[in-house]
Amino acid sequence: MTELAQSHRPGGADGTATRWWRDAVIYQVYVRSFADGNGDGIGDLLGVRGRLPYLADLGVDALWLTPFYTSPMADFGYDVADYRDVDPIFGTLADAAALVEEAHRYGLRVIVDVVPNHTSDRHAWFREALEAGPGSPERERYVFREGRGENGELPPNDWESIFGGRAWTRLPDGEWYLHLFAPEQPDLNWENPEVHAEFESVLRFWLDLGVDGFRVDVAHGMVKAPGLPDVGHPDQIRMIGTDVVPFFDQDGVHDIHRAWRRLLDSYPGERIGVAEAWAPSPGRLARYVRPDELHQAFNFHFLGTPWEAAAFRAVIQESLDTAGSVGAPTTWVLSNHDVKRHVTRYGGGGTGLRRARAAALLTLGLPGSAYVYQGEELGLPEVLDLPEEFLHDPQRLRDPEAGRDGCRVPLPWNETEPHLGFGLPGGEDPWLPIPASWGPLSVESQLADPSSTLNLYRRALEVRRARRSFGEDALAWLPSPEGTLAFARGEGFACTVNLTGEPVELPAPGRVLLASEEPVIEGGLARLAPDSAVWWEREGA
Ligand code: GLC
Repeated sequence: MTELAQSHRPGGADGTATRWWRDAVIYQVYVRSFADGNGDGIGDLLGVRGRLPYLADLGVDALWLTPFYTSPMADFGYDVADYRDVDPIFGTLADAAALVEEAHRYGLRVIVDVVPNHTSDRHAWFREALEAGPGSPERERYVFREGRGENGELPPNDWESIFGGRAWTRLPDGEWYLHLFAPEQPDLNWENPEVHAEFESVLRFWLDLGVDGFRVDVAHGMVKAPGLPDVGHPDQIRMIGTDVVPFFDQDGVHDIHRAWRRLLDSYPGERIGVAEAWAPSPGRLARYVRPDELHQAFNFHFLGTPWEAAAFRAVIQESLDTAGSVGAPTTWVLSNHDVKRHVTRYGGGGTGLRRARAAALLTLGLPGSAYVYQGEELGLPEVLDLPEEFLHDPQRLRDPEAGRDGCRVPLPWNETEPHLGFGLPGGEDPWLPIPASWGPLSVESQLADPSSTLNLYRRALEVRRARRSFGEDALAWLPSPEGTLAFARGEGFACTVNLTGEPVELPAPGRVLLASEEPVIEGGLARLAPDSAVWWEREGA
């Protein structure tokens, strides 16, 4: 362990710039479902701390922790009531400090979530705003408006909430307030300098505590188009990610990111900002990672790509070109706590798992930084049959099928322990039930199986770490048959992916380094298994 920790200890402590984020593999910890340290059935900071050896052994460079701040949990923590404290469900501030410190000892950096678009309706500011009434400075911290219609009985505009229904709620005093998400998540007014000052202070609070950066929630949402104009038609959720809407991706958000970048840069140790930005195109997304803005942005265009060679090739090239045009690294993301797990998106069952394993080698073989959502290293599928009484995701209001509970099921750690090792013996049941069929997918079981998905990830991360310039080495596409991808990188590395359901033959690019499924090599030809990927050491390259 000591040796391992040394090999990927955060650089830069002595003042040298490592630009560590450019090729970092960052593991997303959905705290509620990762590990339960106190046996109450809900994951917590103590649980994460206890599993740091697992994460260090896995070989990731950093963790991103989803919100663990004080919250009434209307949106499972993305409704923050106190940005400077830890919710008792997750532990204490001392637990957070101890976790950051211990992670650093394991050579792991820690990124925390910050939620600047909205607060909880239980945040002191919103309570003060409700009490102070229309026209007060307290209401100026949020987006309060009078309604339309004769008696203000119609909402101020036609905006829809991402979670379904309209984006406005009316108060008994007649005013309406804006909430792009749940009514319990009122939007802040970023035209008010007090809001800027408050968030800079929140960022400082966590930077002083030692965190290595922030994942900025809804980084495209804080600034709205002047005058809050109507969109003009319904079903606005379908436009996000492809069209410009007046409540997202407005130019003004970039001033906020510039100010935050200056703040991050004023701290030693290369602290970073990562944008969760749903931009209409990779080109618009690149604007969030210009040299004076955030360091990374999640690549949701890659996440949304169907299992087709041409589609992947196009999105990879476009991502490299657009991020490259502003000198930023690309990121590669397959899953997170908001989307169906990719084993299931890629077809589920044996096919979904084969494709997910191949996708892992494709993703980790590309230049730039990669995100791993907890449990993807175990090949976990989406849980599609959770009993109704467990489903509380506010997004179900839009469409019961759009619920995000099935990707948030707690992790199976040990096949032979109660609750598959999530929690303590004799502890409470997990907050979402873990399918009994996940026993063989548990960490302990997979560690013992050399061909497991967990061991595939561990080996891939080991190979990545051993090739020091891996993240920066440019990609060159190699000729390959239809339905496949082949590319070379730097000193003698190549990756081939067969995205078809049939075996495909091509000239063997070299010696097999790692494979999601072993190819058959004969007379200089490699026969790639269906839905598989191979990493190659190229000879004579
Ligand atoms: C982000 C989060 C999501 C949350 C939403 C509102 O998209 O990832 O989980 O519901 O923001 O804060």
